[in-house]
Amino acid sequence: MFGPEGPTLRELAVQALSSVEHGYDLLAPKFDHTPFRTPDAVLDSVAKALAPLGPFTDGLDLCCGTGAGTHLLTGLCRRSVTGVDFSAGMLDVARRRVPAADGPAVAWVRGDARALPFTAAFDLVVSFGAFGHFLPRELPGLFAQVHSVLRPGGRFAFPVFAPPGPAHPGFWTLLGFDAVMRVRNALWRPPFVMYYRTFRLGTVLRELERAGLTVELGALPGFGRRADGSPRARLVVARRADAAPLGGQPAAGSVNS
Ligand SMILES: C[S@@+](CC[C@H](N)C(=O)[O-])C[C@H]1O[C@@H](n2cnc3c(N)ncnc32)[C@H](O)[C@@H]1O
Repeated sequence: MFGPEGPTLRELAVQALSSVEHGYDLLAPKFDHTPFRTPDAVLDSVAKALAPLGPFTDGLDLCCGTGAGTHLLTGLCRRSVTGVDFSAGMLDVARRRVPAADGPAVAWVRGDARALPFTAAFDLVVSFGAFGHFLPRELPGLFAQVHSVLRPGGRFAFPVFAPPGPAHPGFWTLLGFDAVMRVRNALWRPPFVMYYRTFRLGTVLRELERAGLTVELGALPGFGRRADGSPRARLVVARRADAAPLGGQPAAGSVNS
């Protein structure tokens, strides 16, 4: 379906009838040959936007899959880079694909983003292409987890793309996909949570602030603008407040993006 090296329609159907975790275990060997892997153009654009905010020391790629974002972090973080994902199959592929280099130490951890097995150990957390796997009601818990693994002053960054409008065929494709998934999840267990149209920028910004993160939005260059002039792609950078100075108020501060 995605060319000779990608999964067949049958393989995709079997994956979609599994749980999210097992579905990705099955898809892992062919995942990099699907459009679900974050494209290099997006990774490069995010890396360029984050570089001036660094250098960073310890980075985490949340829902790392085969390591697309983890590899990006090796160019931004000096000491360590960790990829976390709950699919053992995706982590196996990541281990083989992301080259060990002279840069930061790279670690792969199997874990659920909703119950992260870390302390406040990171000054940069990124995530790519995974938010559709979380229901809107799970966002407060997810962002609380991210807050808990960030050091004071640490940042959580991810790209967000403007959804296509009804005049664009993509609008109807995504609408149709989400409708099929809703029917599938009403009829079949275990559920496979993957919705394209539930991760809404306004809600996301509000929930990040509620989780105690200060948010800045920047346009990601290279993806153009919509007819109304708004950017097609943005970078969300949410920052955990600095530690309170001894005997004083927390230091004010936010990110320049
Ligand atoms: C579409 S893939 C994206 C992978 C990679 N970030 C990329 O951009 O190429 C989504 C990934 O999220 C992982 N995932 C989904 N829900 C998760 C959860 N609750 N905890 C950890 N990983 C999760 C899946 O196993 C899968 O590897």
